[in-house]
Amino acid sequence: MKKIRKAVFPVAGLGTRFLPATKANPKEMLPIVDKPLVQYAAEEAVAAGIDTLIFIIGRNKRAIPDHFDKAYELEKELEENKKMSLLKSVQEILPPEVNCIYIRQSEALGLGHAVLCADPVIGDEPFAVILADDLIYNENENCLQQMVSAYEEYQSSIIGAELVPHDETHKYGIMAGLEISERVMRVDEIVEKPTPEDAPSDLAVVGRYILTPGIFEKLKTTQKGAGGEIQLTDAIAELRRDEKIYAYHFEGKRYDCGSKLGYLQANVEYGLMHEELGKDFKEYLKSLEI
Ligand code: G1P
Repeated sequence: MKKIRKAVFPVAGLGTRFLPATKANPKEMLPIVDKPLVQYAAEEAVAAGIDTLIFIIGRNKRAIPDHFDKAYELEKELEENKKMSLLKSVQEILPPEVNCIYIRQSEALGLGHAVLCADPVIGDEPFAVILADDLIYNENENCLQQMVSAYEEYQSSIIGAELVPHDETHKYGIMAGLEISERVMRVDEIVEKPTPEDAPSDLAVVGRYILTPGIFEKLKTTQKGAGGEIQLTDAIAELRRDEKIYAYHFEGKRYDCGSKLGYLQANVEYGLMHEELGKDFKEYLKSLEI
């Protein structure tokens, strides 16, 4: 069985929901307290044993490679000013053994197309996909770690899953199938953004996937689907005809940081959990008479 060593981060979306904040900056660089979303995603992958991070970038995405690169001038200045803990925070963004690869997606044709851009660097091995705007917190094992364990057990593609309100199915990929255990379901059906009337269940795809390399052959022939985009969900539906696919109901709390409300909720809760700020922030929130 091949180990999951590579993770793909599609970060080429236009981020229109956060305009004007995302006019010149990728949405994945929006901070939750003091770290950008993409760093939480990278840390989750590294903790799950991944050593190669593949970013699919688009226009205005220079900030992402810059964020993961060494910042000589900044480091020199922090060192001279003896700001050692800040220096550590910029030096230790990723462990030295982790490699970053950047692939430019010239046109934003959809999530499926973004993942297909990683084909030349993935090769014949299973890999993870993380959508950084789904921020997932869990006190113990992170979401991808849990899914890697499920992959080791089932040796098949694993899709992160969560129940959503029935009137929100049109925002997600929706799956239905055979329940295998408390957290695992064999996927028999998967559709992108169905209306509540057409949705086969309320079990949504969240932004975490472990996919076998067979997905690339499917993506090469996937036509435009929901929203006129090449959808990863549609390629997964095709892959399901050849291979078993499992949904994994992860343990943890997801913040939909692709929406303004979810983004604010994440900032409040991560602010409350923050080592330095948490106590004062809690006092402040209590003082607001709302
Ligand atoms: C994407 C996927 C969708 C999934 C969602 C999770 O949609 O296409 O299947 O449920 O991420 O966040 P997007 O949010 O990019 O429209």
